[in-house]
Amino acid sequence: MNGNGVNEIRSAFLDYFGRHGHEVVPSSPLVPRNDPSLMFTNAGMVQFKNVFTGHERRPYVRAASAQKCVRAGGKHNDLDNVGYTARHHTFFEMLGNFSFGDYFKAEAIEHAWTLITKTFCLPVDKLLVTVYHDDDEAFELWKKIAGFPESKIIRIATSDNFWAMGETGPCGPCSEIFYDQGDKLQGGPPGSPEEDGDRFLEFWNLVFMQYEQVGPGQRNNLPRPSIDTGMGLERIAALLQGVTSNYDIDLMRVLIGAIADATSTDPKGPLKASHRVIADHLRACSFLVADGVLPSNEGRGYVLRRIMRRAMRHAQILGSAEPLLWRLVPTLTREMGQAYPELLRAEALIIETLRMEETRFRVTLARGLSILEDETRTLVPGATLPGEVAFKLYDTYGFPLDLTQDALRARALAVDTDGFATAMARQKAEARKAWSGSGDAGTERDWFAVRDAAGATDFLGYATEHVEATVAAIVLDGAMVDAVSEGTKATIILNQTPFYGESGGQVGDTGIMRAPGVVFTVSNTQKKLGDLFVHEGVVTSGAVTKGMTLDCVVDHARRGAIRANHSATHLLHEALRLTLGDHVAQKGSLVAPDRLRFDFAHQKPIPPEDLALIEDIANRAVLDNTPVVTLQMGVDAAIKSGARALFGEKYGDEVRVVSMGIAHHADDTDAADDSSDPHGPAFSVELCGGTHVARTGDIGLITITAESAVAAGVRRLEARTGAAARHYLNARAAKLGDLAHQLKSTEDEASKRLGTLIEERRKLERDLADARKKLAMGGEGGAAAPAAVEIDGVKFLGKAISGVEIKDLKAIADEAKQTLGSGVVAIVGVSADGKAGVVVAVTADLTDRFDAVALVRVAADKLGGKGGGGRRDMAQAGGPNGEAAEAALDAVGASLRAHADVA
Ligand code: ALA
Repeated sequence: MNGNGVNEIRSAFLDYFGRHGHEVVPSSPLVPRNDPSLMFTNAGMVQFKNVFTGHERRPYVRAASAQKCVRAGGKHNDLDNVGYTARHHTFFEMLGNFSFGDYFKAEAIEHAWTLITKTFCLPVDKLLVTVYHDDDEAFELWKKIAGFPESKIIRIATSDNFWAMGETGPCGPCSEIFYDQGDKLQGGPPGSPEEDGDRFLEFWNLVFMQYEQVGPGQRNNLPRPSIDTGMGLERIAALLQGVTSNYDIDLMRVLIGAIADATSTDPKGPLKASHRVIADHLRACSFLVADGVLPSNEGRGYVLRRIMRRAMRHAQILGSAEPLLWRLVPTLTREMGQAYPELLRAEALIIETLRMEETRFRVTLARGLSILEDETRTLVPGATLPGEVAFKLYDTYGFPLDLTQDALRARALAVDTDGFATAMARQKAEARKAWSGSGDAGTERDWFAVRDAAGATDFLGYATEHVEATVAAIVLDGAMVDAVSEGTKATIILNQTPFYGESGGQVGDTGIMRAPGVVFTVSNTQKKLGDLFVHEGVVTSGAVTKGMTLDCVVDHARRGAIRANHSATHLLHEALRLTLGDHVAQKGSLVAPDRLRFDFAHQKPIPPEDLALIEDIANRAVLDNTPVVTLQMGVDAAIKSGARALFGEKYGDEVRVVSMGIAHHADDTDAADDSSDPHGPAFSVELCGGTHVARTGDIGLITITAESAVAAGVRRLEARTGAAARHYLNARAAKLGDLAHQLKSTEDEASKRLGTLIEERRKLERDLADARKKLAMGGEGGAAAPAAVEIDGVKFLGKAISGVEIKDLKAIADEAKQTLGSGVVAIVGVSADGKAGVVVAVTADLTDRFDAVALVRVAADKLGGKGGGGRRDMAQAGGPNGEAAEAALDAVGASLRAHADVA
């Protein structure tokens, strides 16, 4: 080995097994994707769980890893001990080698022995082992391989030598390797009454995986006996570095050194436990945030918050005047970032999350502690703090229960946890009574029973689209049932889910849930009561039963498109604001896979040049291809930071703030200027619970497809992104191609060609109208005169014509008037639908004798119309009865005659 630092030991371990035919596999995330029963990855074997049980195949049968683990919650929970012992951690690294039905006990023991005695050069005389009490095979192998006398192979009958991942999962008897650190430390060998002391340190556990625990008291044989080993990296480092506490190894010393520097405190003095707690919790918190967990009041997020706040109380004990934890992150990433690059990627997020949580918590921490001080002043060691007080600290001052317990630990005071639980239950009941949901409060309220039965859903869909989950409840026609069979439409509630529940305008996810022989097709996901995710769909094969494990996969392509549309909505929102003004407030939105819609306050239609500008600005942020950064903070802090809140959205205490793009581009039109700080202020900052792309470039392209009015003062923008935008634009281009083709032109010439055609058509229409008129009046030469009759010396031309436009009648009458020279003209035009128009014209010399208006009314009367209007020389009217055209003309003639007689 090249040295005995943590990084070197990790490499030496992986190199050793790599050389011996093992695939070196990277650590899996701390939030297990393949196991619904675990809160956090708590051992190296977790990522291989389904390989052991035979449900998953890998292209290798032996593997080795350095796995990040968190033991804080669930079966393996070390939280309470951290800082007060030499070897407990919430976060630690586990080195392991694994055989999936390949080698078994003999080779596992052989490898372990070779590595620790040859590579790590641990002195043989300090080593001893345990085996499960009836495991004679392991006993004999240790005797043979290590040459141990029987006194150094201790049989243990308890669960200490039977390892299980959790309530369910692979398990088996194990053999643990111990190191005797000598009598400078207290403690006895394993199995002795003093075994809990620090002298004999267990540092490597070899598990002979043989069973799968499937339920309480029910165990199946694994398909093939396998090997799972786990060596605590911090423990082996302590041994190799000759220190008796994990907190004295190189890595921890650096972290503790940074804490001591930042707080000017002595890391070996009376406050040493606080240094240790902070160093440990800093690692747990940073790694959890890097793996997508953010502090919250439920589930994993709450465990993270508890760890954070515990550390923050210890920072306060060290007298840190300012938030401390975030300042330690660069030291951690420097030490561990090479082995775990996710730390480097998430560094900014970790820093911001810690800084904000500590800033917020400090506001109430001191006040809460002084209340705790007052309440416990009179208590003597061994006494109990009332649960009500602990609950008040929890509810009003944000003290997790274990923080209060930790604070009282040094004074040997306990907390009445039953009283705490009672107070909590009472508050929940009150909250339920007061619930007014975002939607229809009545229907929302029906979900309370389901939530009570199933618990809140842990949403993992920000970080992953694929997890295993347990069926926590099944709802069929409004009632909870234990199973649903093939062909049934039902609603499924899981303990955790990657499916986004419809909210904030973003539609719910769809996808598939599977178990052997079972498929449930998810057609929609809704969110109820804020944290209950309900999956609507149909059992497409088999039966879904409560408690079963389902492999849940979100429709990835669809979600990808939704992400792009959601991020594009933010970019368009900001582009609209920059172009139109600050009054542009969001009034609603829809984020679907194929399109997005954004409604906002604005009075006028947006002119095309502004739309083009808005599209340009948004697309420039796309081309900048900057990371999309999500932070979580208190609402007030978020609003203060300039984040835009969405209209009509109900916010809890905690909000996600999504930032993207670079702000300077807003007013800078020089696209070539790339010199500015990419970490400058973001272009868009919004409160948003939705899912987004990782980088703006993932949006591909934004194209605005429509702009319209939805209500007074509210406009709507519609747009598409990515492939949908391209398809939309391609379809439009295809239409243009088709038009050009039909016009027998090119795409470039099509518009000109169309202009020519329209002009030609106008001319043809004019010519046609002229021809019709001429035809109507008797053909070329205007031979209308012969059609005229004389009524008492007045020439009268009455004519009914069809197939002319009513609007042309005046022109025809005018022409006839000129032809007559002196006289009266009446033209009835009958349109295609049988309606009639009539025009009467009187030449100027006769207007003192005849009134066109009076005459046209006579005609209109016959045509079934009323009235008529115009002047004495020209009037027009109409009526529905085209068939009465001749009768109308006769009536005009008769009227002339009567008039003439009178005259
Ligand atoms: N999975 C075993 C453990 O965690 C090796 O101890």
